[in-house]
Amino acid sequence: MSTRPRTPAPATPAPGKLAVTELAGLKSRRQPIVMITAYDAPSGRLADEAGADLILVGDSAAMTVLGHDSTVPATMDEMIVLTRAVTRGARRPLVIADMPFGSFQVSDADAVENAIRFVKESGADAVKLEGAGPTLSRVEAIVGAGIPVMGHIGLTPQSATMLGGFKAQGRTADKAARLVADARALEAAGCFAIVLEAVPAPVADEITRRLTVPTIGIGAGAGTDGQVLVWHDLLGLYDGSSPRFVKRYADLATAIRDAVAAYAADVRERRFPEDVHTYSMADEELEAFREAVGAPPQPTTVAREPSEGRRTPPGAPLRGAAPRPRRARAAGRSPAVRRRRGRATTRRTRARAP
Ligand code: KIV
Repeated sequence: MSTRPRTPAPATPAPGKLAVTELAGLKSRRQPIVMITAYDAPSGRLADEAGADLILVGDSAAMTVLGHDSTVPATMDEMIVLTRAVTRGARRPLVIADMPFGSFQVSDADAVENAIRFVKESGADAVKLEGAGPTLSRVEAIVGAGIPVMGHIGLTPQSATMLGGFKAQGRTADKAARLVADARALEAAGCFAIVLEAVPAPVADEITRRLTVPTIGIGAGAGTDGQVLVWHDLLGLYDGSSPRFVKRYADLATAIRDAVAAYAADVRERRFPEDVHTYSMADEELEAFREAVGAPPQPTTVAREPSEGRRTPPGAPLRGAAPRPRRARAAGRSPAVRRRRGRATTRRTRARAP
């Protein structure tokens, strides 16, 4: 083909997209990599505009967005919808889809099939898989299919029960050494980056030093090549208790609650909507309409005091209707409208008569 497709095909980076291969360059230049989760188009767009390098559509969505108590119930279909929304909003950052529990544990073939679904159906640039051990052959298979894979070790929430709960990992010498070995095996299997969750900082530092691909920490100290936080934690949108590694940069839950309460009060006190929120109609059209539907004559003054809420008196030009001088308006009317207007005026005069 001599022309390039306007919309990049799946697995083809869009113009302006950060290249996966650029991440190793950021690591070697010691430029910290910024990753954040997102679950819909506006959060994808805002994360992009704020300069995030990587966006993870985490299976944390099961808790933050779908209201479950753990990440385990997230399904492929749910994750595809969320990832599709994020890729519509984000341009430059790499969008990484988190493979939910059950989507890769059964076999390499399943893992490849589901990773391909993410790329084809939701426009994901890469996928993330939790664990090492049996996950290694899944990583090789997916990378072999041409899809970049991010690893994830340490606290892996999909297997929290096996790990004894949501606890920091690698806190004994043996377990820390195991993490180093797992990280190296994931790199050898083809991962382009590895998330280290809830591991002691010295262990994360050691892993970071030994890998050529970047490490992205969450609760892993300041020595990793990048950091990731969950959208709802960072913005103070999540009501549950947050782990100690969360830094809250805003309290949007309070801001949203206050805003919705103010709206509710305005509706109940009839302070909203105001004239500026309302569509207008030309006087003659309004009169013709009232006549057509047999509406009762309108009072000429507003029933309520202005303090009860701003209302436009009947006949006053509404927003959007350019006021015209009386004579010009009359001249512009069609004979039918003028006849109707005459009748309406007569009726209104009669209605006002004692
Ligand atoms: O699902 C998620 O949000 C994650 C991050 C915490 C790394 O896996």
